[in-house]
Parts: sequence; C-alpha cells; structure tokens
Amino acid sequence: MAKIQATLAIFKPDIMLHPSRVQKIQQLIEKNGIKVFRKKPLTMDVNTAEKFYGEHQGKFFYPRLVNLMTGGPATIAILVGNNAITHWRDLIGPSRSHRARSSHPSTIRAIYGLTDTRNAVHGSDSVESAAREIQFFFPELDYDDCVKQCKT
Ligand code: TYD
Ligand code: MG
Repeated sequence: MAKIQATLAIFKPDIMLHPSRVQKIQQLIEKNGIKVFRKKPLTMDVNTAEKFYGEHQGKFFYPRLVNLMTGGPATIAILVGNNAITHWRDLIGPSRSHRARSSHPSTIRAIYGLTDTRNAVHGSDSVESAAREIQFFFPELDYDDCVKQCKT
C-alpha cells in the first residue's frame, strides 16, 4: 500500500565532482514523483562522518568510507513521496557498484558508481534509519514533520 514516507539522501563527494550527473539524478528523482523537501550542502568533518556511519565502525571499508565522506562537499537532502524509502533505495541499486552493474544495470550506482566506496549516493534503509538520519543532519526537523508538512 502506498504510504507517504521521508528518507535521507546524500549526494556523496564523488558524484559532486560531476554537476551534470548530479543534475541527471535530480531529474530522475522528479520523474519518479519524489519531492526534494530540504537540501543543503555540507562538507563533513571526521566526527560527523564517523558518527553517521557508526554502525560500520571496525569494518574493513570504514576508514576509506570516512575518508570519502570528508574529502569534499556533499549535498544532504530529505526526499518525500509514496514509499520514498524503498523507492529511493530501488533507484539507487545495490551497495557495491560493480555488482550493481551486473544485477541492476539501470540503477544510479550501476551507472555512476566508481567503486564499492565511491558509489555516488546514500539512501536510508528503513523508517528507523530515515528518522535517525533526518534528525542527525536536520536537528530542527523530525521524520513526522517532514511527512506532515509534505502532505499539506
Ligand atoms: P552499507 O550500509 O552496507 O551500504 P548502503 O549504502 O547501500 O546502505 O555501507 C555503507 C557504505 O559503505 C556504502 O554505501 C559504501 C561503503 N561500503 C564499501 O566501501 N565497501 C563495502 O564492501 C560495503 C558493503 C560498503
Ligand atoms: Mg546502509
């Protein structure tokens, strides 16, 4: 059943080096009926990136993930729409870009991902993550606000 949801998207520093690709992804978002409710630029410091990806601490890719996320400006966005969490994750595709290219070739990560780490975009993976991640980057908002304000 269709349910209005909010989700957190990040245009990671690797894709931000290519404004025309960012624009194409934004067009894809609009074409899919997903609304960009808030958007802001952010260059993450180490503390912010480590905290945001805290669940991955200790994994082999954690240092290079933090390195990527602090390596340049990102764009943080709240997307809202029908089933926006899974809809955005479906558009993004699998985490690992090279796998995405064989299994889900028309997804964002398959098309624009450079490596497993430099995979262009982030998307929340559940309502709980979306709520936490929206609060993390937009402390003045909460998940229900985003959904409510978008319905009106
Ligand atoms: P994860 O939460 O597993 O993926 P997703 O972004 O699809 O939710 O991992 C977080 C990020 O960590 C992922 O976007 C890119 C990076 N990463 C790697 O660099 N190597 C890997 O093998 C994995 C699984 C993730
Ligand atoms: Mg994840």
